[in-house]
Formats: sequence, C-alpha cells, structure tokens
Amino acid sequence: MNFYLRHAILISLLASQTSGAQDSVGIQGAGKGLKDYYSQYFPIGVAVGLRSLSGREASLILREFNSLTPENAMKMGPIHPEENRYYWKDADSIVDFAQRHGLKVRGHNLCWHEQTPAWLFKDGQGNLVSKEVLLRRLKDHISTVVGRYQGKVYAWDVVNEAIDDDSLKFLRNSLWFRICGDEFISKAFEFAHQADPSAELFYNDYNTERPEKRERVYRLLKQLLTAGVPVNGVGLQGHWTVNEPTEKDLKDAIERFSSLGLKVQITELDISVYPWEKQKRMKLSGEQDELSPESEKRQIEQYEMIFKVFREYKKQLTGISFWGVSDGGSWLNNYPVAGRKNYPLLFGRNLMPKKVYWKIIGF
Ligand code: GLA
Repeated sequence: MNFYLRHAILISLLASQTSGAQDSVGIQGAGKGLKDYYSQYFPIGVAVGLRSLSGREASLILREFNSLTPENAMKMGPIHPEENRYYWKDADSIVDFAQRHGLKVRGHNLCWHEQTPAWLFKDGQGNLVSKEVLLRRLKDHISTVVGRYQGKVYAWDVVNEAIDDDSLKFLRNSLWFRICGDEFISKAFEFAHQADPSAELFYNDYNTERPEKRERVYRLLKQLLTAGVPVNGVGLQGHWTVNEPTEKDLKDAIERFSSLGLKVQITELDISVYPWEKQKRMKLSGEQDELSPESEKRQIEQYEMIFKVFREYKKQLTGISFWGVSDGGSWLNNYPVAGRKNYPLLFGRNLMPKKVYWKIIGF
C-alpha cells in the first residue's frame, strides 16, 4: 500500500475515534507515531505537566513520543519552594510515568534566572546573600534534585539562558551573575556531575541560530570546555517562527556547536505563527482566531525544512523535543500576551494530527 493511502486510512481511523468512548484505547492502538518514523534518527520528546499524563493526551504521548521533559515541575521555584522543603509530587509522577512506559526523561532545569523561589537570593533580613551562601544553596539544590533522579533522568539542562539579550553584552546581568560572577555556571555543571556522573549535562538557550547569539553561546561553551568543566551538550530551544531560522542559520548553528565535540539537541521545539516577540507590545498585529491558510502553508514549509535538516544532521543531533503536546496547551497562547491563540505544534486543539504532521513523517 502506498504511503499516502496508508495514512489516509489512518487519518480516517483516528477521526472516527475522536468522539467515541474508546478514544484512549483506540488512539493508542492506531499504529505508528513520530518516534517510530524517526527511530533510526533520534528520540522525539515532549514537554509535559501532570495533566497530560492521563486520558487521551496520555495515549497520544505514548503513541508519538519516547522522551519526556517536565515543562515546569523540575524548575527551582516549583520543586524547591522553601529552603528546607522540596515539592516532589509532580516531578516524581512524571518520572514514574516515563519509567512505567519506557520513555527517557530530560531534566529541566537546574539553574535559571526565571521561576526561582522567593527565598533563593535573600537572607532572613531580605538582603542579598553572599556568593558563598548562594553557591552553597545551588550545590544543595543540585545534589538533592539530581541525586533523587539518578539513573532515571538521562540528561539535564543544567544552566538555562545565561547569555544576555543585548547582542553587545555577554552574560546576562541576573542575580546569579550579580552575586557570583560567571562562576555560577561552571559550579552548576560541577555539582551536577558530582551528583550523577553518568548524566549528560547541557547548556540550554534560545535564538541560538542567530549568528550574533550563536557566537556568544559558542564563546561560553568554549570557555567552559577549556576550563575542563563537565558540559556534554548544548540545547537549542527551538522556539522558532514561520520566518526563522533560515536553513543556513540552522545548519551553521548545528555545525558550529558540534565542532566543539558537544552533543546537540533541539529541546523546546515549537513554530509560532507570529514573529518573535519577547516584549509585550501595546498592539499585536495579525491575531488569528483560526490558523490562516497562509500561516498554515508557511508553517508546513518551515517544519518540513527543519526536519529535513534534522535528518541530515542525525549524527550530531541526539534528541528533538517539542514544547507541549498540542496547540491548545502551548505556552505561546499566553506569551507574550495572555489569550492570543497560537498554533505552534503538530497536534491541534482536538488532539488530532494537523496537516503538517503528515508532511514531517512523509519522507
Ligand atoms: C524557556 C524555558 C522553558 C519555558 C519556556 C516558556 O524556554 O527554558 O522552561 O519556560 O521558556 O514556556
């Protein structure tokens, strides 16, 4: 049977199951998913919260993916809300689910300037703590979290987004940096390596295909490697748009980072139908209540291009993870403003594969 016929049958099978009571069983049993089409290439992962791990969404995940990243549950704020209290329930449930079903887990993340707990940078009087205190806190945090999941989490995003947004600056002027200087970065990797010597340790950042940012990330990684810091890989987040990256910039980035001997992963893939915006603007143009035919076309072209590049670079790429299961659950519906609908993933709000899905498995 030819490819398109086989998939036409599969689509109608899936469509007939969306309204039925046997949804979860039916969809799970419906056949191959992304992970199978790409089994000779790289694991395909997805970022999840607890709510995705039951019902139809869980079935979809098991059919399509073979790696999970907790979207929020392992970030420092949620998992370590008070200095002497950790909150494990959500992260444990995600790791248990992965273990039960044989999926890999990427840990995300150990050191970041956002979603930090209120106590982290302050002492009892509300003053900023010293470098010694902050590095000790970082060590306690990393040893405890990485230690707990040793052997269950195969890779960690150790440091997230340490490069400044201003292309003329180098490291971000975060509280980590203001208190510790650049040392928090190498220390974070060392603490993680001590806690689990066999875990793969990643530096993770966004816009890493833009040449100016790419070069600053490259410079940081090169410095770390030269200093003997145990960093094994770089995560290109992949929060992309229908307009960027270009094929050339994507290839250049993969080649540049892997020339350092690092593993490269795409860690947070989604393709927004709007241009990249970090700042909230007063007026957002081109809001789409439904995915417009023009955006759909551009998104398909962009996804086809990037997956073609991924396949071409399968030696360098050791994982591709999407940032969310379906359009309805994507963070981009609330970023940079709450309530603007976006359509960045391969599954629609009804959890059905979009047209673009069939394009990227049809190679
Ligand atoms: C960054 C972080 C992710 C997530 C996204 C938005 O990319 O690494 O954890 O917070 O922003 O959801």
